[in-house]
Amino acid sequence: MKTTNTIKAKINDQLIEISGEKAFMPLGSFLRNEEALTGTKIVCAEGDCGACTVLLAKDLGADGKLNFLPVNSCILPLYLINGAHVVTVEGIAQSKGMQFDLHEVQKKMVDCNGAQCGYCTPGFICSMVGAVEKIKGSDSNITEKKAKNFLTGNLCRCTGYQPIIDAMTSIDLNEVTLLKDRYYSDEWVKELKRLKSQSVVMNLGDRRLLLPNSLKEACLLKDEDVMIRLIGGSTDVGVVVNKGKLQTPKAMSLYHISELSRIIRDENYLIIGANVTLSQFESYIEKEYPEMAGILHIFASPQIKNQATLIGNVVNASPIADTIPFLMVSDAIVSLQSVKGLREIALPQFYQGYKKLDLLPNEIVTNIKIPHLKSNEKTKLYKVSMRKDLDISAVTFAARIELDDQTKKMTNVKLALGGVAATVLRLPVIESLLEGKVFDSALFDKAALDLPSLISPLSDLRASKEYRLKVAQNFLKKFALEIGGSL
Ligand SMILES: Cc1cc2nc3c(=O)[nH]c(=O)nc-3n(C[C@H](O)[C@H](O)[C@H](O)COP(=O)(O)OP(=O)(O)OC[C@H]3O[C@@H](n4cnc5c(N)ncnc54)[C@H](O)[C@@H]3O)c2cc1C
Ligand code: FES
Ligand code: FES
Repeated sequence: MKTTNTIKAKINDQLIEISGEKAFMPLGSFLRNEEALTGTKIVCAEGDCGACTVLLAKDLGADGKLNFLPVNSCILPLYLINGAHVVTVEGIAQSKGMQFDLHEVQKKMVDCNGAQCGYCTPGFICSMVGAVEKIKGSDSNITEKKAKNFLTGNLCRCTGYQPIIDAMTSIDLNEVTLLKDRYYSDEWVKELKRLKSQSVVMNLGDRRLLLPNSLKEACLLKDEDVMIRLIGGSTDVGVVVNKGKLQTPKAMSLYHISELSRIIRDENYLIIGANVTLSQFESYIEKEYPEMAGILHIFASPQIKNQATLIGNVVNASPIADTIPFLMVSDAIVSLQSVKGLREIALPQFYQGYKKLDLLPNEIVTNIKIPHLKSNEKTKLYKVSMRKDLDISAVTFAARIELDDQTKKMTNVKLALGGVAATVLRLPVIESLLEGKVFDSALFDKAALDLPSLISPLSDLRASKEYRLKVAQNFLKKFALEIGGSL
């Protein structure tokens, strides 16, 4: 087994090597304080404003070229960029001696007056370039809707968004030279593969940093020191660390373990590996699970989804996590691996209380298995939050039923509610009320009346308990209306 104790990456085509405690530093702070790349701004330091957006390529696309994706550098620890190429706003224009050739995105921002104070502009430029990297080749132009979707993770306090949207929709994709072509080098692709085939082990007194390259090694390390914390994309952990409420002196990332970076389809399940990001999951399920893809379209921002993992959302165990209701009604199974072997557990049993999991200290979550949909199954997912984009839910709902085409009988009724208790809940009492009955919206009205005796939501800054209860009741009625309407 090859092991190293440094992190190697490229920033704007320059090789960097990081060792020691610096490897725990957020990428954004490193860029500003150590590399003098001050175009990247840090404002909120919690993934919300997009001022710190940079482009990160740590995987190869189907064409064998680097896949540059926008991410929030303020919550991304340096150890998660091993083998990556990072392009900051300083690396977007092409230098020609003492001159610069602006990128098409930058030209349009100038033409459309897309900046006033300019503080948010580098973040917008990086997100827009990320959008162009994704869209060129699959689409001929950028619509206003697409522009807005790609920019949900960027806030501007002065320009107003219209000039920025105008800039993005006026980009001529034919004029764009993609970063993946400009920065392509055979040597770096080979080096990236070599770096990811090695394990990184840094033992720094009380601190440890581990990037094992096999599951066996990961399990041995976790067994030997249960204080090691698993890190997925760091979009939950990075925020809490920046707020000073958590330290991660011993961190392990699994992203060198290629078998955990895949989505596998077998006869019975879709198997989502621990390294699979929400963006990858979103693209994969678009056709098969349009309801879940719809929820992911309004989940956080592109920057967050390019980094965050599905497994991170599940293990973080928030009662308002957006993927859990869907996984609950899908009868998803969590795979837990340790030196003792594999343990598989149904998702509802995984949650034992507020952020309390059936996860042993030496176990690692390796994947989530989602059983395939049956043809007569109907699924609906709803989310209510204070605003549509980039907001955490107040209440979430998932329903899945099998509906007989002829008899209209409902079987295998599964309902889940989030934001009304310490964990996402299944609703067994209502499920049995509906089970085996002929579909009738009056049954759902009755269920909505029963709901207050079954849940006791809390009031917090997102919503009052009365509001949450009303929304939960309305979700049941909405489900009945939508299913009834389709019959
Ligand atoms: C701006 C912003 C917006 C957000 N919006 C939403 C939203 O709309 N909806 C929503 O549901 N969430 C949202 N989140 C929360 C977060 O992005 C998700 O929960 C995300 O899926 C976490 O994944 P991660 O890989 O980044 O997890 P991490 O932060 O890396 O880890 C989360 C937890 O999982 C544990 N963990 C990770 N991998 C493993 C493993 N393999 N085995 C065992 N334990 C593991 C970690 O130790 C940690 O406790 C948002 C966060 C931010 C910052
Ligand atoms: S500084 Fe606001 S998202 Fe990073
Ligand atoms: S131009 Fe000032 S914050 Fe956007």
